[in-house]
Amino acid sequence: MTTDHTRREGETMTDKRVDGKIAVVIGGGSGIGEAAARTLAAHGATVVVADVNLEAAESVAGGLAGGARARWVDVTDETSVAALFTGVADEHGGVDVVVNCAGVNIPGFIVDLDTQQWQTTIDLCLTGAFLVTKYAGRTLNDGGSLIGIASLNARQPAAGFAGYCAAKAGMVMLAEVAALELAPRGIRVNSISPGLVDTPLVHTLTSIPVIQDDFTENTPLGRNGRPDEIAEAVLYLASDDSRWVTGETININGGAHLRRYPDVMRHLADLSVVE
Ligand SMILES: NC(=O)c1ccc[n+]([C@@H]2O[C@H](COP(=O)([O-])OP(=O)(O)OC[C@H]3O[C@@H](n4cnc5c(N)ncnc54)[C@H](O)[C@@H]3O)[C@@H](O)[C@H]2O)c1
Repeated sequence: MTTDHTRREGETMTDKRVDGKIAVVIGGGSGIGEAAARTLAAHGATVVVADVNLEAAESVAGGLAGGARARWVDVTDETSVAALFTGVADEHGGVDVVVNCAGVNIPGFIVDLDTQQWQTTIDLCLTGAFLVTKYAGRTLNDGGSLIGIASLNARQPAAGFAGYCAAKAGMVMLAEVAALELAPRGIRVNSISPGLVDTPLVHTLTSIPVIQDDFTENTPLGRNGRPDEIAEAVLYLASDDSRWVTGETININGGAHLRRYPDVMRHLADLSVVE
């Protein structure tokens, strides 16, 4: 007899793997963060959905089980990051899981890139990750789990994505240092590096057929990822199933790291979207 292990899109197993845990999902108002918030709540966590877009965070939190709450945070603003963790600790008595999904990519070739555009990407993706790690590290309960959403671009360069690639590579190394520093308290720090996942962040790219086709050709499993496929790894890293995993990066990309990153800028130039 064979067993069908495949699951339909959006379908999740609902064991209570993170029952009783307090989880803060930053960037939880959309895309991968929203899926992470839904998955953690479905598996028993009390989730705080934090986002610079409070309305989006409230909308996601409103649909979750387990007394989920929404909070505003801007990861580029240290005061707000500190206030987020103080507020959650005061309300819930501690924090067990932190997931950082905030990110942005401002494309441009290095020789053309405004320093301010570079800085915006670094501020949000890398300094933001530092601030989240700093205050999560102070607040997480012993034995907690901190998960950063990095990117395939942490290891695979993409022409025109200098700030993003550098920030995501830095984010992975930041997590490795944090894993060393926080291990004495049993706090685990890990990264997840997704390939192309269908979310609002990449809709501009995936809506251009020639770019989508290039991504598909360079993904051995032949399709984009879904946010819930990243959320399942978040659930693993948040749960005690991963109790001996720290300083690790989980690559989830349909095998895209085995090929090359599409030349997005060339496609945009061919279409006269950029010079
Ligand atoms: N979608 C992909 O293909 C892909 C691939 C690799 C890595 N990633 C990374 O995954 C993470 C999530 O991306 P997504 O695709 O779900 O994007 P998304 O745009 O759907 O969601 C990002 C969320 O972060 C929030 N956010 C933005 N700036 C913020 C700030 N300063 N402070 C707090 N929240 C902020 C946004 O409001 C939004 O709700 C990002 O770090 C992104 O770089 C995405």
